[in-house]
Amino acid sequence: MKIAIGNDHSAVELKEIIKEFLEEKGYEVLDLGTNSTESCDYPVYGEKVGKAVAAGEAKLGIAICGTGLGISLAANKVKGIRACVCSEPYTAKMSRLHNNANVLCFGARVVGSELAKMITEVWLDTEFEGGRHQRRVDQIMAIEANE
Ligand code: RB5
Repeated sequence: MKIAIGNDHSAVELKEIIKEFLEEKGYEVLDLGTNSTESCDYPVYGEKVGKAVAAGEAKLGIAICGTGLGISLAANKVKGIRACVCSEPYTAKMSRLHNNANVLCFGARVVGSELAKMITEVWLDTEFEGGRHQRRVDQIMAIEANE
């Protein structure tokens, strides 16, 4: 399975750790940058991850900035994207189970690398539950479809 990953300058080091973790687990990684610690704008990378997932170039995406917030807001502007900021594993699990999140976001200035790996692992290992949650996810997607 291919995972798109993108980040701003604050998260270059954590991105590398997560990339290695994903590759060790057998995932293919599509790295959309940035790979520079020079200050840059997180919307660029949130959009790149969102577009890669929406276009089917990657099945799921991971987007990291300082807090996870800005990059999630940007990714969520791409049609078809459900990006969720998860700072601990419970929320990460629920974001897949109930919300069918297709982009995971977290903050390099919020979570340490071991917690980030745990969040990533539980997120990738959890499948959408469907059922009544499908109706609710459909309602969310209808909001952007009706814009
Ligand atoms: C960059 O300083 C910081 O604003 C960014 O990484 C992110 O936290 C924004 O939401």
